[in-house]
Amino acid sequence: MLESLGNLKRTQYCGSLRASDADKDVVLMGWVHRRRDLGQLIFIDLRDRAGIAQIVFNKEQQPEAHAKAEDLRAEFVIAVEGRVVRRQKSNPEIPTGEVEVIATRLHVLNNSKTPPFQIENEVNASEETRLRYRYLDLRRPKLHSNIELRHRVIFEIRKVLDELGFFEIETPILTRSTPEGARDCLVPSRIHHGQFYALPQSPQIFKQILMISNMDRYFQICRCFRDEDFRADRQLEFTQLDLEMSFPRQQDIFDVIERVMERCWAVIGVKVQRPFRHLAYKEALKRYGSDKPDLRFGMELHDVTQFFEPARATLHFEGNVQAVVAPGAATWSRKQLDELAEFAKSAGARTIYTAKVTAEGISSQLEKNLGVDTLKKLAETLSAEPGDLIVAAAAKEQIPHTDTSLHVGGQIRLHLGDKLNLIDRSKWEFAWITGFALFEWSETEKRWVSAQHPFTGIYEEDIDKLEAAPWECRSKGYDLVLNGNELGSGSIRIHRQDVQARMFKALGLTDEQAKHRFGFFLDALTYGTPPHGGIALGIDRVVMLIAGEKSIRDVIAFPKTTAAVDLMAESPSEVDTSQLDELGIAIRKEAE
Ligand code: AMO
Repeated sequence: MLESLGNLKRTQYCGSLRASDADKDVVLMGWVHRRRDLGQLIFIDLRDRAGIAQIVFNKEQQPEAHAKAEDLRAEFVIAVEGRVVRRQKSNPEIPTGEVEVIATRLHVLNNSKTPPFQIENEVNASEETRLRYRYLDLRRPKLHSNIELRHRVIFEIRKVLDELGFFEIETPILTRSTPEGARDCLVPSRIHHGQFYALPQSPQIFKQILMISNMDRYFQICRCFRDEDFRADRQLEFTQLDLEMSFPRQQDIFDVIERVMERCWAVIGVKVQRPFRHLAYKEALKRYGSDKPDLRFGMELHDVTQFFEPARATLHFEGNVQAVVAPGAATWSRKQLDELAEFAKSAGARTIYTAKVTAEGISSQLEKNLGVDTLKKLAETLSAEPGDLIVAAAAKEQIPHTDTSLHVGGQIRLHLGDKLNLIDRSKWEFAWITGFALFEWSETEKRWVSAQHPFTGIYEEDIDKLEAAPWECRSKGYDLVLNGNELGSGSIRIHRQDVQARMFKALGLTDEQAKHRFGFFLDALTYGTPPHGGIALGIDRVVMLIAGEKSIRDVIAFPKTTAAVDLMAESPSEVDTSQLDELGIAIRKEAE
């Protein structure tokens, strides 16, 4: 029989019980985590938000409560009145392990179907099942604490930015397309048939307008929507810490974010080293083969094309050759080397070359192509030592102005770093990446596109190259990276209307197109726009890293799958024809 809560008042959380609570009369409420029936005694692990407490039902002393406890099943919701006592044998595994509660009364508040998986940290249910029953999944302690951590981190961000004089300002969710490189999510208008709102890919234009409005320092914890390819670190809707400042030097923005990061990591007791290091984009690419380098280990890339050049024809390689020295990998088996070659192929290398450095010399199939002397010189240049394995890979430049061998080398570096356990997982290596090019070549669109977005500032001396030599234009953009992840991206903006108009032109927009899409913004820029700049960080990624998770889905309460589906709410879903009619929309059947 279910009972109502009535006037029953919880005295504390289960998870908060400690030895100092001994002899207290308590009322606890929560979910039955586990039940052990020893006949005379029934033990219940009672779970609530704060943790688990052990409840004891004694048949002799409290026959009525004991009888009710016999019917309890996993995930029933109960209230227990009782007295806290010290356990005869404490359980050091849980924080409440020194005490237990001797129940005097039991109130069964609700029952539960048998859950499809156990509410434990380690479950063997598929992610699909977990997402379908997300409300149960969220009861698991690990996920539960991730969501709490997310709250703490966001709360800390709000506190520190308030201390630094920022205003939190909301910008519209139903708005107009802002280009951030992804497809828009569109919402049809009921009142204006044939017209659509776009959900913001970011509040970029609005935050710049807020600077024109003299808000001076803005931030927002905002939801952004991007219809792009989803991976472990990308969602259809995600959360940004978005901020903007007027009259800033680049360093002022860096200082703000470094303070924010310091406070976020302090939530887990980690002291972040400030200031963060700076790395030029080109240098990051050259040394680490990535614009978001993992700086927790060395193993830098070396361009060794010159050593391979004489054998270009016999080795049949194209493009440049990058090499790394894998410490201690000279003992790798054929199988391990084959796996490495397989990985390199998947990363875009046509083939890889390896050379084992031993006390006796260098052993490699390359010997017949390059000769012993060249191999020796190669090992010397790379400072390879006995026991090391030299790994080199070539890749052809497929994208103009992009040396793809660097990207391939970068992936091989990460792969080897992981396989050889070179990555110090206790380190937090933040870095600012600067010195990006303003444009990058889009193979699909066959034109120059913004490397970040069209509002990114340009060096004054490069403005005249906008039309003639876009690839030479340097941007005032920067990224914040951490342990191989891009956390955020921002820039000093274009604040002159004439420059912004030229930028749109350089991106291939006609005056009419620019006016149609950004007319209001171009207008706004003409009314005394202060120099301004800002940044946006991916909150999901920040929390994912602080929580030690591999996927942002594990730090989002209700994430979508990589196919952009909410399995619990079953969205997207079809809608009634009447709703479509109201919107003036007819669904076209896919051609067979
Ligand atoms: P950007 O597009 O680089 O910049 O986005 C900033 C940060 O947001 C996070 N992010 C994502 N997180 C989860 N899922 C996604 N699909 C996703 N896309 C981006 C990343 C990224 O670094 N308006 C500019 C910022 C500015 O210039 O101030 C912008 O949005 O962590």
